[in-house]
Amino acid sequence: MKLAVIGCGYVGLVTGGCLAEIGHEVIATDNDSAKMAVLEAGRVPIYEPTLEPMLASARKAGQLRFTADPAEAIHAADVIFICVGTPPRETGAADLSAIDSVARMIANEARTPKLVIEKSTVPAQTGSNLKRALTVYGRSGGTLFRVASNPEFLREGTAIGDFFHPDRIVVGIEDSASAEQLREIYAPILEGRFSCPVHSGKCPPAVKPEFLVTTIASAELIKHASNSFLGLKISYANVLSDLCEKLDGNVEEVTRAVGLDPRIGPHFLKAGLGFGGFCLPKDIQAFMHLADSVGVDFGLLREAERVNRQRIDRLMEKVHHFLWVIKDKQIGLLGLAFKPFTDDIRLAPALEVIRRLIAEGARLRATDPEAMERTRALFPDIAYSADPYEVARGADALLLLTEWPAYKKLDWARVHKEMARRLIIDARNQLDPLEMRLHGFEYDSFGRAGSRA
Ligand code: UGA
Repeated sequence: MKLAVIGCGYVGLVTGGCLAEIGHEVIATDNDSAKMAVLEAGRVPIYEPTLEPMLASARKAGQLRFTADPAEAIHAADVIFICVGTPPRETGAADLSAIDSVARMIANEARTPKLVIEKSTVPAQTGSNLKRALTVYGRSGGTLFRVASNPEFLREGTAIGDFFHPDRIVVGIEDSASAEQLREIYAPILEGRFSCPVHSGKCPPAVKPEFLVTTIASAELIKHASNSFLGLKISYANVLSDLCEKLDGNVEEVTRAVGLDPRIGPHFLKAGLGFGGFCLPKDIQAFMHLADSVGVDFGLLREAERVNRQRIDRLMEKVHHFLWVIKDKQIGLLGLAFKPFTDDIRLAPALEVIRRLIAEGARLRATDPEAMERTRALFPDIAYSADPYEVARGADALLLLTEWPAYKKLDWARVHKEMARRLIIDARNQLDPLEMRLHGFEYDSFGRAGSRA
């Protein structure tokens, strides 16, 4: 099938690349000319494991191409995926201006019927506004537009594996023809007819994904409801962690036992510095705003968000407790990205930690396997090094802020030698408290006051 992807950000590139990989002919476009120049030159503007080789092979096979001319993409395709950004406005509501502008562009350019699919995360009711914009701006008056919602559940860092091994594919539709068209698009995934670019023939056993056909409004709600629930779960674990600190419990023992109940599940119960990134925090805000706008009180989410913001306060309390005065202390930061396997620092907790430490006069050195360049653009005065041991050199404290696996396997004897004061605050509960104390470190983490000796 001939598909167009409008918006070559993270979601657009992963979606477009994967759709090409499963055999569709994909043409992708974006109104950012600098980004298009990078893509047309065969490079990829973001870091996501497997993305670059996958895009290169799809282009080589002629399944994927990029164009800076949106009209070309619209004319070429029967199905158009809208993957543009919906960033938060001051109020927390989603800014839908990019969706509106794409709708008008499609209406103006389309000469043949199109199925227009919302892939971007949007509040419920966007589908009906999209349909109206397409209809009223439709140039020929007779061009038939159908609208559908097909939310993505891709996690940064594992997005390509998530596309090939989804637990569900949700399609919100207005007519059965759209459901059939979407089923055909995803048939290779539903029927297991693909060669997975991540696991090269050795995919882990997986349950067949559910293909869920819903109304457009339900599909829109499903996306916000999923991300908001994940945020709720994390905040719940974080409050448990505070309780464990006061009452000598160990949050990992508690959440492990709680999560073994299949009604609760083990995932997203990891306590620490809280959730960041451009999805969970922004989607919770947008969902609360949506609920407010229709008179529904979603105070539960407000609380989850408040708990999440307070994680930084909790960390700063620990830093103060140990260092007493922060001014002129040298602090090393392990990890900057909002999570591992990405260079994304949008709403990363590490950024707020940096702001607070700078405000108190700390001297900072930071490292991250992928996110140093992006962070340097925001904080040019920090010292950066790819070498964690250099970050430890002369430091009064090391703060572990992102759960990159490499930081679990450092040579701790060497780190110990490098540091001025052997203090480690592990804001992601990555290290073994007993082992760290045996190495001679002062060590603290979240909610593990009651760690067994
Ligand atoms: C999230 C959702 O997990 C995806 O399903 C969704 O498709 C995506 O948003 C989106 O809307 O596009 P992502 O933002 O990539 O994915 O990140 P997550 O893996 O959800 O992690 C978010 C944050 O929560 C990270 O900062 C992570 O460190 C933190 N986290 C996660 C915890 O603090 N504890 C946990 O137990 C899990």
